[in-house]
Amino acid sequence: MLHIEENVSLASLNTFGIEVKAKYFVSIYNESDLLELLKLPLWKSQPVLILGGGSNILFTRDFDGIVVQSCIKGLEIQEENESEVWLRAGAGESWHGLVMHCVGKGWGGIENLSLIPGTAGAAPIQNIGAYGVELKDVLESVDGVHLEQGTHLHLSAEECQFGYRESIFKHQLQKIFFISSITLRLTKKNHILHTEYGAIHDVLERRNIRTPGIRDVSDAVISIRRSKLPDPAELGNAGSFFKNPTVSDEVLERLKRAHPAIPYYPFDNQQFKIAAGWLIEQCGWKGKRIGSVGVHVNQSLVLVNYGRANGKEILQLANSIQRDVEQKFGITLKMEVNIF
Ligand code: EPU
Repeated sequence: MLHIEENVSLASLNTFGIEVKAKYFVSIYNESDLLELLKLPLWKSQPVLILGGGSNILFTRDFDGIVVQSCIKGLEIQEENESEVWLRAGAGESWHGLVMHCVGKGWGGIENLSLIPGTAGAAPIQNIGAYGVELKDVLESVDGVHLEQGTHLHLSAEECQFGYRESIFKHQLQKIFFISSITLRLTKKNHILHTEYGAIHDVLERRNIRTPGIRDVSDAVISIRRSKLPDPAELGNAGSFFKNPTVSDEVLERLKRAHPAIPYYPFDNQQFKIAAGWLIEQCGWKGKRIGSVGVHVNQSLVLVNYGRANGKEILQLANSIQRDVEQKFGITLKMEVNIF
């Protein structure tokens, strides 16, 4: 049964903790709920916003339409053999809960993605990634409903067109696709551990762990994230606000001449990723606070709400940072967070 509410506060449904209201709000627990919703006259007359865990969104105003919260639950083994398991997760499952479930079962592949806020269904939209692993490395397929056609769609990983914090769900299928579940392909043995990321390596060494397992890597990631990134339950934030920019080798050479310490990493097609956090820090923004908003003290990519900030204040801060980075380095920072 659909239960459509009116004038609902979204403050507890976005990790920035911004107080805005939705004109209409409905939670979806299965695909038939959604198909029922698609038939209502209300659906056709209103703008729509699909919300997962609200951990990658900045609201700058009330939403004058229908907010649909994806609450489809369930973890189900689709297939398994001696060495691998295909696990389907409902879109409304907590991402970190899913990671903990897999770590507990001894299934490898997503341990580096521990403690990322948000839901399983939101994970493919921005192809979540951390500490040398991206969702696309383990994602088998995505299932959901095409909102204009009212039909079920099954997309293979290739069809999702994943890139760095990119997917088809941010382009051709933006606003017209409802993700119901994701299927991951995980290892049951001979796990491929990614411990090459400097910080993971350091934690394992400090803990004297020479032959780490999945749980050791997950624990290391959790301790790194806790030391660098604010917990949204304590301090409103949406993780990295900006993407790390990519530049050509010529631009990189120019930057290196002027700023020899600039951190960079090889990326696709002779492109290089530059650490946006470093650029922001060099502009003097790290730890700065303006009224109720600020740049986190330990990680400049993260903007925080110290209390009663509204979305426009956070957006203004983001724009000031973009302007300074552009002036100092000639680089345009793109926002990773979705602005509404
Ligand atoms: N750095 C600074 N100052 C800062 C922040 C970073 O100088 O304030 C430099 C450091 O030198 C460090 C380098 O930037 O060597 C990289 O920093 P970090 O390892 O913290 O990673 P990041 O590139 O800043 C990305 C992701 C994070 C992810 C980490 C770890 C993006 C936009 N962000 O951050 O993802 O956790 O790598 O893999 O790609 C998120 O998307 O919400 C998120 C937190």
